[in-house]
Amino acid sequence: MPRLRATISIPSLRAVDRAAGQVGRQIAQSLRAAIANGELKAGEYLPSTRALSTSLGVARGTVTEAFEQLQTEGYLESQVGAGTRVAPTLAEQARPPRPPAGRSPNKTAPIELPPRAVRLAKVMAAFTPMPEVPFAIAVPGGAVAPDDNWRRLGNRVRASRAAAPASYGDPRGLIELRQAIADYVRKSRAVHCEPEQVVITAGTQQGLYLAGRVLLSAGDRVWAEDPAYPGMTAVLDDLDLVTTRVGVDAQGIDVDAAIAACPDARAAFVTPSHQYPLGMPMSMARRNALVAWAARSNAWIVEDDYDSELRYAGHPFPSMQGLAPSRVIYLGTLSKVLFPSLRLGYVVAPLPLIDAFAGARALLDRHSPTADQHVLAAYMREGLFEAHIRRIRGVYAARRATLIASLTRHMPDHVALQPSDQGMHLLLWLPQGFDDVQLAKSALADGIVVRPISPMYEAAARAGLMLGFGGFEPEELEAAAIRLRQVIDLHTPQRRAKPRRNEASH
Ligand SMILES: Cc1ncc(COP(=O)(O)O)c(C=O)c1O
Repeated sequence: MPRLRATISIPSLRAVDRAAGQVGRQIAQSLRAAIANGELKAGEYLPSTRALSTSLGVARGTVTEAFEQLQTEGYLESQVGAGTRVAPTLAEQARPPRPPAGRSPNKTAPIELPPRAVRLAKVMAAFTPMPEVPFAIAVPGGAVAPDDNWRRLGNRVRASRAAAPASYGDPRGLIELRQAIADYVRKSRAVHCEPEQVVITAGTQQGLYLAGRVLLSAGDRVWAEDPAYPGMTAVLDDLDLVTTRVGVDAQGIDVDAAIAACPDARAAFVTPSHQYPLGMPMSMARRNALVAWAARSNAWIVEDDYDSELRYAGHPFPSMQGLAPSRVIYLGTLSKVLFPSLRLGYVVAPLPLIDAFAGARALLDRHSPTADQHVLAAYMREGLFEAHIRRIRGVYAARRATLIASLTRHMPDHVALQPSDQGMHLLLWLPQGFDDVQLAKSALADGIVVRPISPMYEAAARAGLMLGFGGFEPEELEAAAIRLRQVIDLHTPQRRAKPRRNEASH
């Protein structure tokens, strides 16, 4: 019989507390810890179950249960007549290194992060939700939240058999919803499509990722606007694409400059209806130039149409997809016109690509929750969705007008207001030399959320702030405009020259 270890020489077992219950589990956990920290070595024999139960003051069966659990997990081996030992094959290297003598083990010792983890951790910071105070973007509360019909329909649909907990769904999405979306984008956005060309997504963020995944390979070259939505450029980086940022002017992306800078791009990621963040639509001439380039080069256009339903002067601009349905991947979202936590959006793609989009979606998370898809399909089918958009467009228009009036009244001359005629935000340009990132931090400390614009540029960054007006009542917007003025004053050096009001251009 090999020499058995005495219970007393396994310090980790002292952690076992009979009063705390689940003693078998505690013993197993203490033995795992003893093996991990080297108190018990590979091949070493444990005390007998009898000795261990006596010294711990527990029933022998409790110890036997812990031993059996650890045998199943591969930590221990038992041989008839020889007792129980730590598995000799439990390689020394599999254990964490012992801390240097004299130092207590540091549970939060830093580990070296792989390069992609470093990049992704930075992305996380950019997606941390902001407090829901003015001028946060996309806070659809109160008058702009979906009305009682949404709740009523949700209850009705969820109580019905169709949306009750069920099996896996189609990764392309629920056919009723794909039909409703195809009808809607055909009518309202001049998108050319059949329901079979629609894939339901978890929002445009996922649509961007799927498009990159399906259309491109690591190392492929792509164009992105400068400035651009950081959630989009981060996707391109994560997919190891080589991005050429292309400046925008009053007509949108400069296609000639893009061709000159990167002639062999495989795709262009653009926001033609409402450039993000600057707000202008892409001119017809530029749309035609972009489509001609895509056709000539066998390249793709990824159209992020994130908030074009909300236009206050005239009708929404038609989509680019309608100009070139076989070259454009159209991305739509319910985040702006319904609410972002719904996490529903859609891709409209040429039919031959649909299975690939659905396959990429299936690998990520299979599909969007079926019940939510049923609720949205019914909301759209019953005409409530379009009525909701008409209603919120009126509310947003009034809030936008209030904010423009407040800012015009309260902002100093060296700050230039740029009101866009669509969407849920407008811009304030700050003079050269202003640190908009620092200003946004000060504003936050003062209970105001503004998004700095300079980090959205790669080249020739301009300092400015994005102000969302969608989620707030007029009085809140007015009060926040006054507070923002005070923050801006604190950041304005006394000697700064005063440029003319509204001097900003794109
Ligand atoms: C330009 C742009 N694209 C995409 C998105 C992502 O939207 P979603 O909530 O649909 O993922 C946003 C969100 O703010 C956006 O502003």
